[in-house]
Amino acid sequence: MKYKAINPELFKLNRERFCAHMKPNSIAIFQANDLLPRNGDCHFPFRQNSDLFYLCGLDQEEVVLVLYPNCPKGKQFEELIFTKKTNDYIKIWEGYKYTQEDAAKVSAVANVMWTENMDSVLKEMIQLADNIYVNTNENDRAHSEVDERNARLAKSLRAAYPAHEFMRAQPIMKKLRMIKSTHEVEVMQEACNITEKAFRRVLATTKVGMTEYEVEANVIYEFIRNGASGHAYTPIIASGANACVLHYIANESTLKDGEVMLMDFGAEYGNYAADLSRSIPVNGRYTERQKAVYNAVLHVKKEAEKMLVAGTTLTEYHKEVGLIMQAELVNLGLITATDIKNQRPEWPAYKKYFMHGTSHHLGLDVHDLAERYVPFQNGMVFTCEPGIYIPEENLGIRIEDDILITENGPVNLMKNIPIEADHIEELMNA
Ligand code: GLY
Ligand code: MN
Ligand code: MN
Repeated sequence: MKYKAINPELFKLNRERFCAHMKPNSIAIFQANDLLPRNGDCHFPFRQNSDLFYLCGLDQEEVVLVLYPNCPKGKQFEELIFTKKTNDYIKIWEGYKYTQEDAAKVSAVANVMWTENMDSVLKEMIQLADNIYVNTNENDRAHSEVDERNARLAKSLRAAYPAHEFMRAQPIMKKLRMIKSTHEVEVMQEACNITEKAFRRVLATTKVGMTEYEVEANVIYEFIRNGASGHAYTPIIASGANACVLHYIANESTLKDGEVMLMDFGAEYGNYAADLSRSIPVNGRYTERQKAVYNAVLHVKKEAEKMLVAGTTLTEYHKEVGLIMQAELVNLGLITATDIKNQRPEWPAYKKYFMHGTSHHLGLDVHDLAERYVPFQNGMVFTCEPGIYIPEENLGIRIEDDILITENGPVNLMKNIPIEADHIEELMNA
């Protein structure tokens, strides 16, 4: 792997915490992601299933994790991994795959078997159990026309074992994954540090006349040379009016004098995501108006960040942030007291210029798995990302940092990444 080995204690603890939520005499089965077909004989690069990774740290296709606390078959079947046996052909064409010993070392699961034995072993275990936990994707924003491996397994198990009780693993995974442990925060900090290097490179190299994709190339250059697997999500490099398209990913325009370039990118390191947004003047100096808008967004961001403390709910938080943004938009002359008076409660006036949420959970996934309606707790990591988008001025500004909630208040994992307008100008003109 390109990343430093993660302490297997993390995975062991995660499994213990999962098992503590299981009903008695239950088995849980977790699948790796599919290797997804591209065209012809090609596949998209493999990315591990985040839940499977969280529970065993194995970063290879065709891995299956089985948990069965107090399994009557014996202690060695309480935690079990199946992985594909390698062969000479795979060795020559693809190279290294886990040995049973290596898989056991990475995951801290002692019992690793080859997948060729899975059907018979699993059948016996399932027949001993009353309940089967399946791990279908319950991210509330997810939609797909294609069944992934866990969904396919759930369907086939339901057909094969119709008299068993089926349970959802995802509510437990949400509870666990939304609170980050120290080991996880360390890996996320590294993802943020690599992202910082990329941003500093962009500050040092961006010039009028470059293309957005040249900027993207500078970002991925720093990511790869520092051990990231790549982007945690498709990067947005949006100059001028492009910044007002929230999911602009074409990254194909030429940077023009006088424009601001909004960038939203983050490294993926050890399968953990960073998520950064910065908005910089292409020629190295913001205009007075651009700086006013920039500082308005920065003010909202600083105020919002302070509210990332245990006890608040996302709903209350978004309402408060909306009020702060509303005041800034009035100051900038973008909305008026009359607009506010006439606004619909479900679509406040500020939404004309700030139409997305301020924060989301971050972790193994950029929009991380979590319970949406529970109050903030220590150990959660949120982004903080207000923005103002003014198509009529060809200007969009978003500023985004990643924040850990702690008992001592919010800790900004991106505190070293330049953010003040003057500092950005200074570095661009150094
Ligand atoms: N980069 C995705 C987001 O900010 O939500
Ligand atoms: Mn982002
Ligand atoms: Mn984000």
